[in-house]
Amino acid sequence: MGRVSLLVALLSVAGFAVGADWIGETREWEGSTYQCKCYSDNSCYPTVTDWAVLNTTVGGALQRAQPPGAVCHNTLGNVSTLDEGKCAEYKAHFNDEQYITDDGIAELWPLYTNNTCIPTDNPADPCTQGFYGTYVILATTKEQIKAGVDFARERNLRLIIRNTGHDFLGRSTGYESLIINTHSFKDVKFIAKYTGPGDWTGTAAVVGAGVQGRELFRQAWNQEPKQVIVGGECPTVGWAGGYIQGGGHGPLSTIYGMGADNVLSFDAITAKGEYVTANVNENPDLFWALKGGGPASFAVVLSITVKTFPEVPTAGTILNINSTHTNDSAVFAEGFRIFHNLSNHYTANGMFVYFELSVGTLHVAPFVGPRMDEAKLNEVLKPLFDQLDAAKIPYSRHTKAFPTFFELYLDLFEDETFAVQSSSVVGGRIFTQTDIAERGDKVAEALLFANAPTESTFGLSVGHIVNPGLGVPVADNAINVKWRNSSSFTLTNIVMSGQETWAQKQEIERINTDVLGKALREAGPDGAAYVNEGDLNEPNWQYTYWGDKYPKLLETRKKWDPEGVFYAKTTPGTEDWEVIDYGRYLL
Ligand SMILES: Cc1cc2nc3c(=O)[nH]c(=O)nc-3n(C[C@H](O)[C@H](O)[C@H](O)COP(=O)(O)OP(=O)(O)OC[C@H]3O[C@@H](n4cnc5c(N)ncnc54)[C@H](O)[C@@H]3O)c2cc1C
Ligand SMILES: *[C@@H]1O[C@H](CO)[C@@H](O)[C@H](O)[C@H]1NC(C)=O
Ligand SMILES: *[C@@H]1O[C@H](CO)[C@@H](O)[C@H](O)[C@H]1NC(C)=O
Ligand SMILES: *[C@@H]1O[C@H](CO)[C@@H](O)[C@H](O)[C@H]1NC(C)=O
Ligand SMILES: *[C@@H]1O[C@H](CO)[C@@H](O)[C@H](O)[C@H]1NC(C)=O
Ligand SMILES: *[C@@H]1O[C@H](CO)[C@@H](O)[C@H](O)[C@H]1NC(C)=O
Ligand SMILES: *[C@@H]1O[C@H](CO)[C@@H](O)[C@H](O)[C@H]1NC(C)=O
Ligand SMILES: *[C@@H]1O[C@H](CO)[C@@H](O)[C@H](O)[C@H]1NC(C)=O
Repeated sequence: MGRVSLLVALLSVAGFAVGADWIGETREWEGSTYQCKCYSDNSCYPTVTDWAVLNTTVGGALQRAQPPGAVCHNTLGNVSTLDEGKCAEYKAHFNDEQYITDDGIAELWPLYTNNTCIPTDNPADPCTQGFYGTYVILATTKEQIKAGVDFARERNLRLIIRNTGHDFLGRSTGYESLIINTHSFKDVKFIAKYTGPGDWTGTAAVVGAGVQGRELFRQAWNQEPKQVIVGGECPTVGWAGGYIQGGGHGPLSTIYGMGADNVLSFDAITAKGEYVTANVNENPDLFWALKGGGPASFAVVLSITVKTFPEVPTAGTILNINSTHTNDSAVFAEGFRIFHNLSNHYTANGMFVYFELSVGTLHVAPFVGPRMDEAKLNEVLKPLFDQLDAAKIPYSRHTKAFPTFFELYLDLFEDETFAVQSSSVVGGRIFTQTDIAERGDKVAEALLFANAPTESTFGLSVGHIVNPGLGVPVADNAINVKWRNSSSFTLTNIVMSGQETWAQKQEIERINTDVLGKALREAGPDGAAYVNEGDLNEPNWQYTYWGDKYPKLLETRKKWDPEGVFYAKTTPGTEDWEVIDYGRYLL
């Protein structure tokens, strides 16, 4: 856990990061010698004057990175930080995703800050920097981003690109890093007729790196005629950052493919500090890799040109089975099996289904039926309700139709409330059409098992029944081909309090991979996993996340980032990298 914070490269392993001009700083850890990035206890670390020069280069946009909770504590190190007014404001917004994403460095998943500097009523409680960075550039221009990339590369510093901090895997924070915050890049421009390169001649949009899901959907909906863009389900998740670089699924993916399937062109800054355009004509290998090849791996994305589609009438259904209906765990489990076993049926009808599952509670909110009215959706869902009725499973449901998808999205999708405070460790699996057809009951069983993988742990899962291969059967990009035949992608969480010791966290991580992860892999042998919503310790992650596209990704990474300027765990080319010393140093 938290290991995602500080990076270093193993001296003994000839990792690609150890390039000819990359020497690294030697560190000993548990009897081994590592070559690491440059940290504050190394003589290579920039001096106060060096940082001041960088600050001048970026026009004063460089700041000391202060953990957001520091305002509730007397001191951070030897700096006084207490500010009662700001502390009250922070506490009031601790669970507010928009507030957290608007911060310069905050992370939605406190586990990956090392659960440090949590708001408290006792200002004397210690607050440490944990796995937050040391400096942040609050970038508003591309020149500032370039200056940060150049500085980090030349000084061999840990570099973090931070868009929203909306990441289950802590990939937008890192111990003693220089952070570049891209959240201010909010421009969106709509294009009535795209003229190339490539053969798309429909509508399109140019989307800045900092634009978030719901604000993007809203702007598309405000166009005349109304439009949609494939994006994630969550209102505050970034769109042009980690989402697209991981592939990106969403409520319209069964009809329009993954988010990255629809990208026409990227503007980006490479690890070498060059401004580039990547599309079907220019830098096609980078274009291919940025579409699903993994975040923080190939370039810093500045903006993306993407296809937009006409809005569609959409109907939705909410379904609940919980303690208001039954407390009989066998009845509940049968209800879940019936619901989930129909995944291939839902996707065959172009649907997306979002559900939350925990002990005794199934909350489907909602079934999304694009291009359907209420009668059509009821007809498609009839086998589900017939089977539930036949098995005498109690439930409640309601269905509503909307003139457009965006209106359904506002009404039937709910903002997450559990996300911000929870310190869960995440895993997940893509179950394919074959997995569901051949062993649907076993898949459902594994998901029910995820509610309590051991006697002392409990879980909570977020399911996405989606087949991006229905609308886009084949795509020339880095996305795992398994997505083209997917039926149900579920993200699992083992919930923690945040108070666990390092050893306890490691044990929960082990359970996540070896107990829960094992059950998921066994239930879905035809399946795969999703780099944005998966296990940081996924065995054989190269193949599981990218399948046979991995070798080309590795080659592309070596070409565009030979010195290892970027880093996120389990992304192409990082196999020889490790974070050592309780989350400190990245090699
Ligand atoms: C509550 C929740 C709901 C989610 N829902 C969905 C969903 O519906 N569908 C889905 O596919 N995924 C979903 N995700 C996963 C999401 O796609 C990833 O967490 C993604 O990384 C978020 O990207 P971000 O840029 O907003 O986040 P950040 O945390 O800011 O960044 C995540 C990673 O992307 C890198 N990055 C960010 N911006 C850039 C850039 N401009 N250039 C290069 N690298 C960059 C960062 O360095 C980091 O490695 C969800 C996550 C959460 C926490
Ligand atoms: C950078 O300069 C700005 C403007 O002068 C200043 O407010 C800020 O504190 C400086 N940052 C650092 C890290 O000193
Ligand atoms: C505060 O701590 C920093 C880093 O530990 C140190 O460089 C600095 O001298 C200290 N300042 C004071 C006033 O003690
Ligand atoms: C992270 O927390 C652990 C205790 O859980 C501690 O041992 C370690 O020093 C912390 N690391 C940092 C960088 O704060
Ligand atoms: C349980 O179902 C009822 C509807 O019957 C719903 O109002 C309630 O929100 C559900 N509870 C949970 C925890 O999902
Ligand atoms: C389930 O148990 C809860 C708590 O005891 C109770 O409030 C609820 O009515 C029960 N539900 C049913 C369907 O009996
Ligand atoms: C799930 O589907 C399989 C085959 O498609 C079938 O054998 C099994 O009985 C179904 N289970 C439930 C609970 O519907
Ligand atoms: C997709 O799943 C269906 C249903 O099991 C199966 O018939 C088909 O062969 C699968 N296609 C691929 C490419 O795996």
